[in-house]
Amino acid sequence: MLGERVLLGPGPSLLPPEVSAALSEPMVGHMDPDLFPVLEETVSLLRDVFQTENELTLPISGTGHAGMEAALLHMVKPGERLVVCSAGFFADRLAEIARRIGAEVIRVEAPWGKPVDPADLEKMLKAASGPGASCVAAVHVETSTGVLHPIRDLARVARAHGAMVLVDAVASLAGAETPVDNWEIDACYSGSQKCLSAPPGMAPISVNARTRGRFSPATYYLDLELLWKYWGSGHAYHHTVPVQFVYAMRAALRLVMDEGLAARFERHWRNTRALWAGLQAMGLELLVDEPHRSPTITTVRIPDGADDAKVRTRLLREYNIEIAGGLGPLRGKIWRIGLMGHSSQMRHVLTLLSALEAVLASEGVKAARGAAIAQTVASR
Ligand SMILES: Cc1ncc(COP(=O)(O)O)c(C=O)c1O
Repeated sequence: MLGERVLLGPGPSLLPPEVSAALSEPMVGHMDPDLFPVLEETVSLLRDVFQTENELTLPISGTGHAGMEAALLHMVKPGERLVVCSAGFFADRLAEIARRIGAEVIRVEAPWGKPVDPADLEKMLKAASGPGASCVAAVHVETSTGVLHPIRDLARVARAHGAMVLVDAVASLAGAETPVDNWEIDACYSGSQKCLSAPPGMAPISVNARTRGRFSPATYYLDLELLWKYWGSGHAYHHTVPVQFVYAMRAALRLVMDEGLAARFERHWRNTRALWAGLQAMGLELLVDEPHRSPTITTVRIPDGADDAKVRTRLLREYNIEIAGGLGPLRGKIWRIGLMGHSSQMRHVLTLLSALEAVLASEGVKAARGAAIAQTVASR
């Protein structure tokens, strides 16, 4: 057995004991009538977490990418125009999947570490020639940069131009406010392993009536109407759902709603702000300007003299703590620290700061010593 890790990377996050216990529920068949109430409760809890009345709300068997692919397959037909608000790795992934589907992909860009400006989306939608965009896609928390996108404003602009709105909430659902109905999001997907703190392997998705029935996508496994026939009241066989993951998802969702969405979002903000205070007290620089920082992922510039891989390996080997390095143009330049779901706890913030301080000091990196903990505690 591997030692217990403190998972403070951009996912997966730590599992609460109730979720670990749910993984050992007795095996039952996916068509067992006793499983059906579990499916129904899971769907109902998911609607609460997405803050939606959308009927078609369910967890896809598959990781966040399955949610991304399913959403795109139902939102854009081959030949239709998709605008991607592009400022990081996961927006690029959305654009690439859409390209493979045969969509005409147009990007509104911002440098990595900045959010896409709704005014730039507006300009682009106004200037675009030919048929309008059928859909605008955006990543709520861009995990590669730690930016929290202004989804409400981007969605407003998209709708004003007659486009539908697709949102990646993989690193935000249950960690940052994502009210699907209130923000008039047409399709929203997430992943089980981040702020929901369930194991990787399920992708919650919710689509509204406008999205449903537009056309029948060229997929069987990810056909949401077919999936709904299993998850909804019919419970007709579609594929063999991973039953233990369903139990784990239900347990995770129950915990989210027991805590309450508002309290949960507040906890994520509080712990992340404490982390920022500690990192800055050490003299480290955060990548993202404060108004655009996410409450779930923090990105910090690697200080001069620190060896990216060596520091991360020492944190893992000596302190059992996982954080992640940068992706794409930010590789070797930043560390990514996730405080998501069950990982978002003050004790983990303090453990990470002390361990990082110890590792940087012994690597001879110039960083203020002893200040981080005091500053973190004072910031609470
Ligand atoms: C914002 C975002 N979207 C999509 C994904 C893809 O999810 P998965 O790795 O579970 O397929 C990730 C994974 O980190 C992500 O952070």
